[in-house]
Amino acid sequence: MADIVDLGAYGEDFTADPYPYYAALRARGPVHQVRLPDGREAWLVVDHDAARAALADPRLAKDWRGTGRWEVREEQTPLSRNMLELDPPHHTRLRKLVAREFTTQRVEALRPRVQQITDGLLDTMLAADDSRADLVEALAFPLPLIVICELLGVPDMDRAVFRGWSNEIVAPTGQEAAQTAARAMAGYLDGLIERKRREPGGDLLSALVHIADGSGDGGGSGEGVGDGSGDGDGSGHGDGSGHGDSSGDRDGSGRGPDRLSRQELIGMAGLLLVAGHETTVSLIANGIRALLAHPDQMAALRADFGLLEGAVEEVLRYDGPIEAATWRFTDGPVDIAGTLVPDRQFVLISLASAARDPARFPGPDRFDIARDARGHIAFGHGIHYCLGAPLARLEARIAVRALLERCPALALDPDAGALSWRTGMLIRGPRRLPVRWG
Ligand code: HEM
Repeated sequence: MADIVDLGAYGEDFTADPYPYYAALRARGPVHQVRLPDGREAWLVVDHDAARAALADPRLAKDWRGTGRWEVREEQTPLSRNMLELDPPHHTRLRKLVAREFTTQRVEALRPRVQQITDGLLDTMLAADDSRADLVEALAFPLPLIVICELLGVPDMDRAVFRGWSNEIVAPTGQEAAQTAARAMAGYLDGLIERKRREPGGDLLSALVHIADGSGDGGGSGEGVGDGSGDGDGSGHGDGSGHGDSSGDRDGSGRGPDRLSRQELIGMAGLLLVAGHETTVSLIANGIRALLAHPDQMAALRADFGLLEGAVEEVLRYDGPIEAATWRFTDGPVDIAGTLVPDRQFVLISLASAARDPARFPGPDRFDIARDARGHIAFGHGIHYCLGAPLARLEARIAVRALLERCPALALDPDAGALSWRTGMLIRGPRRLPVRWG
């Protein structure tokens, strides 16, 4: 067997620009045994075709804690019981409860509000005397956070605290700190759920509380999990229920197919809040950074906003917000693209590497907003395909366009020094993006 590749040995360079390292790995094969920067070992899938197949492979499970076959080293946090960490049938049931809230059609109705929030944030940003701002702080972070908080019904005053926990969960500074943040967020959500129970509103969380209490209609519309828009990854996202059991109740929660346990309610709220904004922050920040680094592409977009949708797809491909998909594991030996991965191993699928695979995208290191970037897997693939893709696209398109229209002289702030990057292999993006426009 080949040696373990120690990604930690690449140091800060790997975090700042992992793409050359992934290219070197791809040149040696589609699957590698690696030691991650945090010391854990896993199998890393780096080719596009192998990554796409692995994302939809039912032999690669998500709920490793639930098998009883693992010594659970990490304490299971109360947020863990969510669709992204579960397999069918629980995954299917939970996803169905909220799928209809996030279809392209539903999300389109949010457009005026997303525009209004964007305009307000830009008004504040552009009032700065020195014509400088951190774009992450001023726009990329607050926009998706406000949108998802409004959708779920999280009050204004709680958002700053929430942001700190959320950051720690997706880009941990340490295992212990991440656990503490997850527990704090779960405790907070528990309290919020209680408040919604007493005083329900018209928000999604109130609707989910209603379902959890057994008086709802189950929320499921029977629409399945695809967004039906035809602008996804073109894969036809089946619900994958052809594997796993279909009893709908193996967690002992006594819940039927349209029910939600307390743990699941907390897990759902936590997942939607975290997944609903952390990634979009980097889509906006990475997009503006890529455009500023490629003045010809910026000029082309400014000259013709008809290129906007393609430009956002190209950002998702060229420098997408999720570097590696979430953990999967083998429950028995699994052949992945010709490599036999043994039983009980963690598998990481590098979306960043897949996006730069020359076998799928010619000239992959070229940022070209006019290329056909469709077919990228920045939103995943298969049953866990991103539920929020239509919302993320809407927010990014509105934010990029409004920013460019209102800042004709937008540039990176030359005095700000080198960018620093979010840690870990989940989220890829700068912590801050200092810009100027005067
Ligand atoms: C640019 C922004 C976004 C990107 C790049 C992104 C990417 C992804 C990816 C790659 C996955 C699959 C992970 C895996 O299979 O391991 C995923 C799942 C998910 N995303 Fe997103 N996401 C984004 C925005 C959002 C938003 C705005 C929401 C808000 C609702 C959201 C909610 C979810 C949920 C709930 C899942 C789990 C779906 C499931 O397990 O069935 N995401 N996302």
